[in-house]
Amino acid sequence: MGKKYPILIKINSEDFLDGGVTVEDMLSLSSMLEHAGIDAIEMCGGILVPIGKFIPSRQGRIKTENEGDYRDAAMRFNENIKVPLMLVGGIRSYDISEKLIEEGIANYISLCRPLVCEPDLINRWKSGDTYSASCLSDNLCLKSLQMCIRDRIREMLTREFDLRIEAVNMRRFEDNFKNVKNVVVPKIYPDYCSANVLTMEFIQGIQIANSSQHQIIPDVYKRQLL
Ligand SMILES: Cc1cc2nc3c(=O)[nH]c(=O)nc-3n(C[C@H](O)[C@H](O)[C@H](O)COP(=O)(O)O)c2cc1C
Repeated sequence: MGKKYPILIKINSEDFLDGGVTVEDMLSLSSMLEHAGIDAIEMCGGILVPIGKFIPSRQGRIKTENEGDYRDAAMRFNENIKVPLMLVGGIRSYDISEKLIEEGIANYISLCRPLVCEPDLINRWKSGDTYSASCLSDNLCLKSLQMCIRDRIREMLTREFDLRIEAVNMRRFEDNFKNVKNVVVPKIYPDYCSANVLTMEFIQGIQIANSSQHQIIPDVYKRQLL
């Protein structure tokens, strides 16, 4: 992408899971990324599914003295790696954010749930009201995201299983490939179709996977088809 475009990555300090990523693994990976020219690394920890000790969005009200979930790993990072570090996880107050920067533990502070809860938080802090973020770390924002994803997947599956939609897609496919010799889309019989039944013309053909033997589909189209 060239020098004008920053490339950042978010990685785990550790997975907090037996057999998972350790701080040593994180340091090796960071060193590789440093040599590859990464512009900044954002450090988090834990894994999304609750089988390890922590998920990245640790639940429960955070006391000021406990802010900054991955400080220790951040210090190890700074001893070994020269790439700018963005620290995320359990940071809630302006004072602690400033301290993390001043003490050289992080170069940048990254906030997730506090900004979901209070999108204007940074402007509030800038205006002089440096009272801590009002985020309760109750993960209700995460729950609503999970519900949206679940609803979206349900909608997609419902559409996927409706064969009338499949019939429309076939017509689109036929239209997209109308100029490609040897791509033939079977005729559909709408009067004999329903959400559960797709009735179409039977065509004797060659499977796409076997098409190279026959050299009937140019490679450029084969990629689109597969
Ligand atoms: C609603 C929500 C969505 C998230 N989505 C992602 C994601 O897509 N990728 C990711 O690496 N972390 C994601 N996270 C984790 C956050 O980026 C962050 O690491 C974690 O919440 C800890 O920071 P915080 O204490 O400031 O919330 C998400 C967290 C929340 C609450």
